[in-house]
Amino acid sequence: MKKILIINGPNLNLLGNREEKFYGNTTLEKIKSLCEEQCKNNDMECYFFQSNHEGELIEKIHLANNDFSGIIINPAAYTHTSIALLDALRATSQPKIEVHISNIYNREDYRRKSLTSEAVNGIICGFGDNGYVLAIEAMKKLIYNK
Ligand code: DQA
Repeated sequence: MKKILIINGPNLNLLGNREEKFYGNTTLEKIKSLCEEQCKNNDMECYFFQSNHEGELIEKIHLANNDFSGIIINPAAYTHTSIALLDALRATSQPKIEVHISNIYNREDYRRKSLTSEAVNGIICGFGDNGYVLAIEAMKKLIYNK
């Protein structure tokens, strides 16, 4: 069974108590369960990870080269600032999908630029927690080519 890595960046552990207008009332625990279920239904297994630390996110991406067939990442605020995260993603050869719960293109100007998206196959944003479900479906096609 193919394994995929689902990485979540800073402050996403606060979902449920955080700017409901943008992020709804879903929690990271609920997103984790959604992802596990969706992976199971799509012949994949997922490893779900969240960190508030840039270096930890980068080290997890490094592991992906050996251990995972694809990466789904919500880099959160590092999307807009982190060349280090971009470089780590670039150094992996697996398919990669970037997810955002909110639509980063209809918010503040500083969110409209995603540095990390240069390294990914595609982005899904603005669909709330369903974005993760859509990303897993898209990942299945990228990994199994069907
Ligand atoms: C986010 C969007 C980012 O701009 C923000 O910093 C986040 C969450 C999203 O999922 O909508 O923390 O990545």
